[in-house]
Amino acid sequence: MVTIMRKTSLSTSDSSLSATADEVTKIENFFDVITKRRSIRKYKDIEIPDEHIIQMLEAARLAPSTNNTQPWQYIAVKDSETIGLLSLVAGGQKFIADAKAVIIALANKAASCCPGNPSLWHVQDTMIATEHLVLAATALGYGSCWVAMLDSRNSQSIVAVKQALRIPENADIVALVTLGVPDEVPSPRSTMELSEIAYSEAYGFSLKE
Ligand SMILES: Cc1cc2nc3c(=O)[nH]c(=O)nc-3n(C[C@H](O)[C@H](O)[C@H](O)COP(=O)(O)O)c2cc1C
Repeated sequence: MVTIMRKTSLSTSDSSLSATADEVTKIENFFDVITKRRSIRKYKDIEIPDEHIIQMLEAARLAPSTNNTQPWQYIAVKDSETIGLLSLVAGGQKFIADAKAVIIALANKAASCCPGNPSLWHVQDTMIATEHLVLAATALGYGSCWVAMLDSRNSQSIVAVKQALRIPENADIVALVTLGVPDEVPSPRSTMELSEIAYSEAYGFSLKE
């Protein structure tokens, strides 16, 4: 039986500082945001002000969607007990428990353009909107990490979390996004060359340099 204390609004604990301009460095240029976004799994003990989380959610709200169905819904969680539980249902990944906030991304089947259609459009739309949120977090100076939950949609623990957080039957938890002020600089990762992923006019034809 999972018991979770639910708070009606985002809250900031008294034990740690709230992020100010000194702790988070905003990035104004879009291409700098894209370049600087990395998965961050270590966070400083600094709270995220609610207005920053709301800005991130606003970025998600403006995303494109199939037939403008906007099938996404989000739960912003700051309660450490709930975050601990989310860490457990996401395979016990420890860094999730250390996040200062976790955004739960829900894809609402009922809001999908084609109920009964086996396509995953509502999930795809929600993933797009959630990447808006991730990029907004980067622009505001926060570190984030995607955690996909697609494979565990029907697991017992997911069902328990859905019950505890009053998530309706129709809403699938498709991802979590952890958030916090970065406390690590990740090592460079390999990325594919543009020539390996993009072609000109037909598959396999190189783009002109
Ligand atoms: C849909 C999705 C699910 C992911 N799930 C996890 C996860 O469960 N745990 C984790 O540590 N990282 C997860 N990641 C982060 C990836 O490992 C990371 O994006 C990738 O290694 C590239 O590194 P970068 O984000 O720093 O560019 C996920 C990323 C995506 C897009």
